[in-house]
Amino acid sequence: MKFSHSLAALAGLVSAQLGLALPQATPSSSATPTPSPSGSFATTNGVQFVIDGETGYFPGSNSYWIGFLTNNDDVDLVFSHMKESGLRILRVWGFNDVNEEPAVGTVWYQKHSNGESTINTGEDGLQRMDYVVDSAERHGIKLIINFVNYWNDYGGMNAYVQAYGGSDNKDFYASDEMQAAYQAYIKAVISRYSDSPAVFAWELANEPRCQGCDPSVLHEWITATSEYIKSLDAEHMTCIGDEGFGMEIGSDGSYPYTYAEGGNFTMHLSIPTIDFGTFHLYPSSWGTTNDWGNQWVTSHGAACKAAGKPCLFEEYGVTADHCAIEKPWQSTALNTTAVSGDLYWQYGDQLSSGPSPDDGNTFYYGTDEFQCLVTDHVAAIGSRASVLRRK
Ligand SMILES: *[C@@H]1O[C@H](CO)[C@@H](O)[C@H](O)[C@H]1NC(C)=O
Ligand SMILES: *[C@@H]1O[C@H](CO)[C@@H](O)[C@H](O)[C@H]1NC(C)=O
Repeated sequence: MKFSHSLAALAGLVSAQLGLALPQATPSSSATPTPSPSGSFATTNGVQFVIDGETGYFPGSNSYWIGFLTNNDDVDLVFSHMKESGLRILRVWGFNDVNEEPAVGTVWYQKHSNGESTINTGEDGLQRMDYVVDSAERHGIKLIINFVNYWNDYGGMNAYVQAYGGSDNKDFYASDEMQAAYQAYIKAVISRYSDSPAVFAWELANEPRCQGCDPSVLHEWITATSEYIKSLDAEHMTCIGDEGFGMEIGSDGSYPYTYAEGGNFTMHLSIPTIDFGTFHLYPSSWGTTNDWGNQWVTSHGAACKAAGKPCLFEEYGVTADHCAIEKPWQSTALNTTAVSGDLYWQYGDQLSSGPSPDDGNTFYYGTDEFQCLVTDHVAAIGSRASVLRRK
């Protein structure tokens, strides 16, 4: 999703620091997936995800804002409501890039200025993400932590381009200086949470695009970055965070299936250091019908099945009629082999400061939409799982 709203946050002065201790990465001990005990790392088994020893289909959501909250109780409230509702995975922004330090009390994670990048490990910096990871651990929720935005919200690749030089966000991918800063940030974040069972996967970017580029540009960047992540942490999964563009399988020639945005879903999915496929769905932004969304889901399931990796239906949203429009997509996803989870965009709740941000696609805990798309969906996943167990 490319929309966002700024959050007013509060707290004290922040000190920027660099240079974090790095834990030793240990290689995977076994190629054979075995049931893992509660609290162990999420993984894959063929074309399905495994969480806490359970193999199957997992529901979840997105919250770009949770790591930017300054009230711990609000963070705990979200995870306790997710747990109670049966939501298992939350995708969060693990980046918050700025070019100038914002007013005191506003959370930021990394500043890029005059060809230098500074990571904020202070209490208005990554310590806010520390609390998110800690609370997720306590509530048994798994996180997808994302390292940069393609879009300019919360800085994104543009924040790097502003500091290092360039004319377009796509200059980010092949710049040695920008990639060095991005990798230093990845290392700083991974070093904080590499031991945490709350991490479901590390994610390269939100919706990386390279409009008009040959798919080799994104492909080389995805390969290099995912190999780097695995060199730091071979135990957790790694995914791209792309919209799933560019594919022959199931293609009707419509824009999302084309290579116009520089992505090639099947080609990127073949990279050994990418553990599963991600795809998004926004028919109103892409000029397709809502019903077309079902074929978009089944096409990705077919591509993931062919690749022998699971697919995560990682973002989907509409601005009205959530239940009527999104319910069929959920049912299709649940019925499609190799689609092993879905995360709606985006989670809403009543925080101490009022309703959490609504970019138009949000629906809130405790509403009729929540009943339809969370409570009923979780029940459908549960009954499908019990049918499968009886077979
Ligand atoms: C996309 O990747 C597939 C392999 O998965 C390849 O056959 C195809 O030629 C690629 N197309 C482009 C435009 O890169
Ligand atoms: C999904 O499968 C269930 C159970 O087999 C079935 O009742 C439902 O109609 C299916 N939904 C879709 C969209 O195919």
